Amino acid sequence: MSLVPAFKLVKDAKEQHYAIGHFNINGLNWITTYLQVAQATKTPIVIATSDRLIRNLGGFQYVSDVVHFMIDELKITVPVALHLDHGLSLESVQAAIKAGYTSVMFDGSKLPIEENTFLTKQVVEMAHQNGVSVEAEVGAIGGNEDGLISGIKYASVEDALKMKETGIDILAAALGSVHGDYVGKPNLNFEKMAQIAQTTDLPLVLHGASGIPDDQIQIAIQMGTAKININTEVNYAWLNEVRQRINDKNVGHEPVPVIASGNQAIKQLVLEKMKQFHVLGKAADF
Ligand code: 13P
Repeated sequence: MSLVPAFKLVKDAKEQHYAIGHFNINGLNWITTYLQVAQATKTPIVIATSDRLIRNLGGFQYVSDVVHFMIDELKITVPVALHLDHGLSLESVQAAIKAGYTSVMFDGSKLPIEENTFLTKQVVEMAHQNGVSVEAEVGAIGGNEDGLISGIKYASVEDALKMKETGIDILAAALGSVHGDYVGKPNLNFEKMAQIAQTTDLPLVLHGASGIPDDQIQIAIQMGTAKININTEVNYAWLNEVRQRINDKNVGHEPVPVIASGNQAIKQLVLEKMKQFHVLGKAADF
């Protein structure tokens, strides 16, 4: 199957009270590994590159070409969306769309809401002309985002409604989750989540979901969260496994078994998340 817009996946998820897993790409083997788990379990998936890391990954066209190539090569038939995570400028959004991404997030969370919505509206026009879906952020999700550390600013219902007016498809409302490691226990504002979900009627995205306990994940899904973003836990799974393997004296000079063991750890983690999000096997719906 060719790539699909994320909205197509998220819409079905919202209607049926499950969530699509969004997993970040941190190297080319992440792409292959994600596609393999999705195909093996017949599960739709969103795979994403963060704007901050795109240069390290080779650029939008390179990533998109690799994803398209691997979809053919691995005979992937499940629906996959290739998503720009935290797009920081109109130029980045345009480059991702031109390269063949099927979903973009514009992150204007550092801007006043008027400026955020003004730019998001332009993103919507550009993306929808190309059949690409749009996610935008209100409030500001805090934490450590690829090295940039910032605090949480909770989303308001008023700002969420202003953002809906831009024509976006999916809403990332900051409600207490953070990127990277949590200091203390995560504490999501579910009252606000319910209000935003009901008044906007948009599918919600939970950013910073690594480290959020299962009971909170389940409530979020029931309230209309239809896409859940995981990066930190995947990276810990890979790094912890590779760290252990690298010290194994039998490895000698061969990097391949070390990298492969890291990939296996990613597969295990992704599978657990897919089960937790109730999305396993949902490719049959499309
Ligand atoms: P984590 O850092 O909690 O995995 O969040 C990832 C994310 O939200 C990417 O947009």
